[in-house]
Amino acid sequence: MNELCEQLGIEFPIFAFTHCRDVAAAVSRAGGMGVLGALAFSPEQLDIELEWIDAHVDGKPYGVDVVMPVRSADRDAGLHDASKLGAELRSMIPQQHWDYVEKVLSDHGVPPLPDEVAADADGSPIGEGVLGWTEATGSPLIDVALAHPIALLASALGPPPKEAIDRAHGQGVQVAALIGRVEQAVRDVQQGVDIVIAQGYEAGGHTGEVATMVLVPDVVDAVGPVPVLAAGGIGSGRQMAAGMALGAQGVWTGSIWLTTAESGTSEIVMDKLLRARSTDTVRSRALTGKPARQLRTAWTEAWEAPESPGTLPMPLQFILNAEAMRRVARSGNEALTGMPVGQIVSRMDRVRSCRDVIFEMVEEYIDTVQRMGRATSVDATP
Ligand SMILES: Cc1cc2nc3c(=O)[nH]c(=O)nc-3n(C[C@H](O)[C@H](O)[C@H](O)COP(=O)(O)O)c2cc1C
Repeated sequence: MNELCEQLGIEFPIFAFTHCRDVAAAVSRAGGMGVLGALAFSPEQLDIELEWIDAHVDGKPYGVDVVMPVRSADRDAGLHDASKLGAELRSMIPQQHWDYVEKVLSDHGVPPLPDEVAADADGSPIGEGVLGWTEATGSPLIDVALAHPIALLASALGPPPKEAIDRAHGQGVQVAALIGRVEQAVRDVQQGVDIVIAQGYEAGGHTGEVATMVLVPDVVDAVGPVPVLAAGGIGSGRQMAAGMALGAQGVWTGSIWLTTAESGTSEIVMDKLLRARSTDTVRSRALTGKPARQLRTAWTEAWEAPESPGTLPMPLQFILNAEAMRRVARSGNEALTGMPVGQIVSRMDRVRSCRDVIFEMVEEYIDTVQRMGRATSVDATP
């Protein structure tokens, strides 16, 4: 479809961020680029997920996404030893915060976990593994990703370390990075990033303050000819056409895949997403300590309440929340159940297959471009 597609061996310049291997493989099989978020997996689990994708992607290209926060509590405190990190970070959480979490849960009638699930598989407290939220725990995920035949390594909240970028290039893997400000795009390109993902304020997950409509052309002008993907608020062909009109070479999407048949989204979350409107999302630090767009819930509101002790920096807020979120999921408490999702949630009103999402997007994109072409030629006629 364009130069970037040729470079990456994909049919359509549609990139799909997802935590679900079935979605990643289905998108790649349909001609887009499925990108699996590695954050939620241990290195061993990620290896299993990628082996599964290798076996189900029909040889089509796919990618992996890691999180590499430039600023985080572990970096600020100079903590680098992955084996001790969880316990060290946990000890930095004030008792007042644990007490507040307990109060919010008991106000909503959420019981403690039964003993048999009240710890992680290795016996450590839930969340102490800190998943991929730190450089120390994120780097092994890059090692695992590069041991598979991936076509793209993406990273959020900061670029991958220079050494990892060089290694990726050595294996013919392109490196992409999500950014929310022009200066971040310039920094990441200087670090060796090949593709910039300009993600606007309306996106699901961690977002900056600049809207996609404003951010994308500014980034295209600042880093061109480096290819830019437009992200945030894109889930239809008209939105894709808008992103391309702003100068992007492709679109990077996330929210839209949460309501696909392959997504594995729980019934309670699926139901909330299908009913939610754009105004039902909020950009809140409640989940991770950095502003992330998500469904507005009793949990996000509790952290805005006057009695809230205030959120903690990443990854402390995540560690604080990890057990609470597991308790909420187990209890089925609707008011506290949330999900990162963007303002585009208003359009996610039915369950479709990944293939249908891609094909409907491409069809509407072509119609839109043709309609605009006709409008232009009519205007040009004297
Ligand atoms: C549920 C969810 C989780 C996300 N987690 C990550 C993540 O771990 N890493 C990342 O780079 N982006 C993450 N994002 C952001 C997406 O990569 C993407 O930039 C964003 O969803 C695009 O905006 P949209 O939601 O309007 O499509 C997440 C998005 C959602 C909806």
